[in-house]
Amino acid sequence: MTNQQLHQRRSQVIAQGMGAMYPLYVEKADNAHVWDIEGNKYIDFAAGIAVTNTGHANKRISEAVKAQIDNFSHTCAMVTPYASFVELAEKLTELAPGDSAKKAIFLTTGAEAVENAVKVARAHTGRSGVIAFKGGFHGRTNMTMGLTGKVAPYKAGFGPFPNEIFHAPYPNAFHGISVEQSLQALEDLFACDIEPSRVAAIIFEPVQGEGGFYQAPKEFAQGLRQVCDKHGIILIADEIQTGFARTGKMFATEYLDIEPDMMTMAKGIAGGYPISAVVGKSDVMDSALPGGLGGTYAGSPLGCVAGLEVLKIIEEQDLCAKAQGIGEVVNARMTRLQQSVAAIGEIRTYGAMMAIEFTDPQSGLPLQDMTKAVISKAQENGLILLSCGVKANVIRLLPPLTIEPEVLEEGLDKLESIIRQETKK
Ligand SMILES: Cc1ncc(COP(=O)(O)O)c(C=O)c1O
Repeated sequence: MTNQQLHQRRSQVIAQGMGAMYPLYVEKADNAHVWDIEGNKYIDFAAGIAVTNTGHANKRISEAVKAQIDNFSHTCAMVTPYASFVELAEKLTELAPGDSAKKAIFLTTGAEAVENAVKVARAHTGRSGVIAFKGGFHGRTNMTMGLTGKVAPYKAGFGPFPNEIFHAPYPNAFHGISVEQSLQALEDLFACDIEPSRVAAIIFEPVQGEGGFYQAPKEFAQGLRQVCDKHGIILIADEIQTGFARTGKMFATEYLDIEPDMMTMAKGIAGGYPISAVVGKSDVMDSALPGGLGGTYAGSPLGCVAGLEVLKIIEEQDLCAKAQGIGEVVNARMTRLQQSVAAIGEIRTYGAMMAIEFTDPQSGLPLQDMTKAVISKAQENGLILLSCGVKANVIRLLPPLTIEPEVLEEGLDKLESIIRQETKK
């Protein structure tokens, strides 16, 4: 069977709304390599969208999950729980930044974590409003779609969205939005749209993911903290893409010197097993009634044991330092390339959360077609790449943090030659 044959079959039975980046069907994967069903080998700079930070098919994680499956695969944590459920919560509440006592809940997907964080904030404050940021991404469920600040493809055709959600601009030096403007926009919302005493939560990503890899400056995060403290609003940091060593710290919030009231976690938490979490201040987290939070598969034993193993690997292999190292290598290579490729508007590296934004050197306009061409050329060249950005003109690089240095260099060689080829046209 070929990739094209399967792709053809896919198009008959899978609705197009579940987009497909590549006509590439995976046979196996190992650390930073993926093989398709035709035997072609790829270097993976996507890691399942920042999920397999600890590498594909990590033996330690697989062994932990296999041992768990042999004991039991599901009992429902809300009915008859298990030690790993408590142990993972102990570890995450300890690792979450800030001195306050913390509690956790577990769910299955990132969107569910965000939904539940909003539920808890509403239960705690008795308020309804939520403020999110333009360009932000929080998921595809109804509430999280409403919070997401990017229309196509996430919101187009899916309205109406939950009410009482407002969007403010996220600071973005490259596109001329200052921290002051972003913070002023919150005051404008309070003046024009909703009084602060009706706002339950402000949710932000420490580095916007789908929105294009823009980092929240420290003064912005601290400004948000002040606004929330002043008005009794819950501050939620969405660390679903940034968490688990990706940016060179366990959580990107650690760069910001603030303690959020709640954090949402998923993706890298368990190296590919579906589990997510909300971790927050105990008094906030305890606001919902018993039974109000959770789900049948929430905190699955497979996810919990995988999560515990991921945390051990991050610590023992110092994946935070590895992420920093990857960011430095990529930054140096891409900065050199930028000197001869004028279409590279900006290179952003936050540890191993790395992006290249393509803009027209004369007009500054986004180069979507070129970005698309680079992504599609990647498959032919044995590389897996992802795009992002509200204008779809950003390539994001998210290799496993365990990538071997020579594989990283080889992947960058491929990327560099594709960019050179595509920018010459
Ligand atoms: C910052 C952020 N929040 C929420 C989500 C939604 O997570 P999921 O796709 O697991 O529902 C994502 C997924 O990309 C994300 O990057």
